[in-house]
Amino acid sequence: MSYEHTEYWIVDKNINQERTKAQINEAGMWIKKGEVVAFPTETVYGLGANAFDEQAVRKIFAAKGRPSDNPLIVHIAERQQLDQLVTDVSPQAERLIARFWPGPLTLIFKKKTAVAPSVTAGLDTVAVRMPDHPVASALLQAAGVPVAAPSANLSGKPSPTSAAHVRHDLDHKIAGIVDGGKTGVGLESTVLDCSGQVPVLYRPGGVTREEIEAEIGPVSLDLALHSEQETPMSPGMKYTHYAPAGTLWLVPDRSRITELVARSKAEGKRVGVLTTIERQPDYQADLVIACGKRSSLATVAADLYESLRAFDHAAVEVIYAETFPAEGVGIAIMNRLEKAAAGRML
Ligand code: TXA
Ligand code: MG
Repeated sequence: MSYEHTEYWIVDKNINQERTKAQINEAGMWIKKGEVVAFPTETVYGLGANAFDEQAVRKIFAAKGRPSDNPLIVHIAERQQLDQLVTDVSPQAERLIARFWPGPLTLIFKKKTAVAPSVTAGLDTVAVRMPDHPVASALLQAAGVPVAAPSANLSGKPSPTSAAHVRHDLDHKIAGIVDGGKTGVGLESTVLDCSGQVPVLYRPGGVTREEIEAEIGPVSLDLALHSEQETPMSPGMKYTHYAPAGTLWLVPDRSRITELVARSKAEGKRVGVLTTIERQPDYQADLVIACGKRSSLATVAADLYESLRAFDHAAVEVIYAETFPAEGVGIAIMNRLEKAAAGRML
């Protein structure tokens, strides 16, 4: 489907401003009526459609080029909307909801039949989260229905952390974009399956495993997170993701990067380096991107996707990236970098 014009609403941080209220209400009505609209959340921009409207949800898959076996996350504004979507909420899930919602934690439950079939890609479970972003909350209120929303990027590309990224990927492919500025966390939500006996972590994200376990005790890890052999429980984790157009290599021993850059230059390639502010002056390449501060991994997470996209704009052909400690949000950062590099490590 192609749109002659994609509506673009630039909204104020103050969602009580009259003009902003009117814009958000309009965008919410469009979603309710069956259109797809991109909007900011605290993690990344989402591409939303009414989760009860099968035709609307299909437009999401078409716009993104998303494989139909990859289910979507449903976004809600209030706890009571959860009961429209799921059959049972375990005491553990209730504890997590009380502690982390609104916030970057997606929980998987057994679903009710009202949820449009495409949302769950035929599974009997549904993923739900309550975003912690004033514009997202106001939009969900205005829509008045639960909103299915994957990240608002073309399938396979880095998730969008600004409305400009969404426009780059989806202009003329969707009805509208709500521009609420840069997102905060910068990486997608943590996904935890609460539909069985023991909760299973499918995707690391803004809420860390340590934080979850401090609340409810041990959770198990989807083995596929650390192995190429296993088939992931979460369908989305099996696809190459977040990938820049150039070939990305992870280089744990960063002292080798200078030599690798020289070698690629000698081969006549356009070369990029992904580092942090502290070490940016150490490198010479066609494009050296400082992605946040190593001393604060949250800043690295916030800038990661923007940094990966920057290599595309500069038509860089090979990228050498430093790696990060696998602790706290560093686990999510390394998970996304490993996927972006399709496992390539030197
Ligand atoms: O932060 C986020 O989660 C963002 C914002 C927009 O909320 N959304 C997002 O959606 O990242 P998406 O579609 O890019 O990722 C959803 C992930 C996929 O890996 C998908 O396979 C998994 O959640 N998922 C959804 N429903 C599932 C289910 N019923 N069972 C297992 N995995 C599921
Ligand atoms: Mg995504």
